[in-house]
Amino acid sequence: MHDTVYLDGRFVAAAEAKVSVFDRGFLFGDAAYEVIPVYGGRVFRPAQHLGRLGASLAELGIAPPHDEAGWNAIIARLLAQAGPGEQSLYIQVSRGADTGREAARFAGLTPTVFAMLEPVALDRAALRRGISAVLLEDTRWHNCHVKSTSLLGNLLLRRRALESGAAEALLVRDGELTEGSSSNVFAVLDGALRTAPADRRILRGITRDVVLELAAGCGIPVVERALALGEVARAGEMFICSSTREIVPVTRLDRSAVGDGEPGPVTQRLIAAFDALKRDFVEAA
Ligand code: PDD
Repeated sequence: MHDTVYLDGRFVAAAEAKVSVFDRGFLFGDAAYEVIPVYGGRVFRPAQHLGRLGASLAELGIAPPHDEAGWNAIIARLLAQAGPGEQSLYIQVSRGADTGREAARFAGLTPTVFAMLEPVALDRAALRRGISAVLLEDTRWHNCHVKSTSLLGNLLLRRRALESGAAEALLVRDGELTEGSSSNVFAVLDGALRTAPADRRILRGITRDVVLELAAGCGIPVVERALALGEVARAGEMFICSSTREIVPVTRLDRSAVGDGEPGPVTQRLIAAFDALKRDFVEAA
């Protein structure tokens, strides 16, 4: 994390940034957030991320604390401290700090707004050789399209994955593969790319949208229909995607190889297309 963070209108040293113990984000997870990649010192797809933040806040009934220009001013000031490497911009908006713990207080508070920049320290080369995943029943709530900080369900699933030696949990709801605990998931089956539709069972990832665009550009057919459990074993390739991990091949699932156990050709094409997009983005700066 960089030393200066944004909190409620001020840019302060991280150690000085303090939130009330009565903040509803702290007490109830009553907050929404975004994670935005920063490449070459610029935020990637800011309008999409800020649009999704607005949609999440609307679902929670929290008034947007800033318009686009307001957000951009905060982001620009934080980016001024960005180094050349990859960074990740985190934004969180809670319903605000109350004067005690009152569950039923939904109005009349001033949202708490926090933003920070963090360096991304992932071993992309290692990730791109493939990760293992496990299938777990999705025990989260029914509004997974909201990017809420109430992440306990996601975290417990991720922990179970890590405990079994896997890097990600792929989630099953109503007998269908929906998304990862912190990523979207794609599979290659019968010559098409398959991913779950953007309904309430998944977070509509900005990276997922990028993958859909890249697939269209590469002439790869896409079907937005969740894989039934019975289809999972037939998938020749699988990958997950997110703002921090980008596109990561899943080469083992529940200890069995996916396809031949190596990153597949469709996945590799999409990774190459993603890298080209990222390169153009950085060079256009
Ligand atoms: N998580 N689904 C879930 C449950 C996620 O938590 C995420 C991302 C995604 C992918 O969304 P995007 O492509 O917009 O990053 C899908 C972020 C990275 C996080 O919580 O840190």
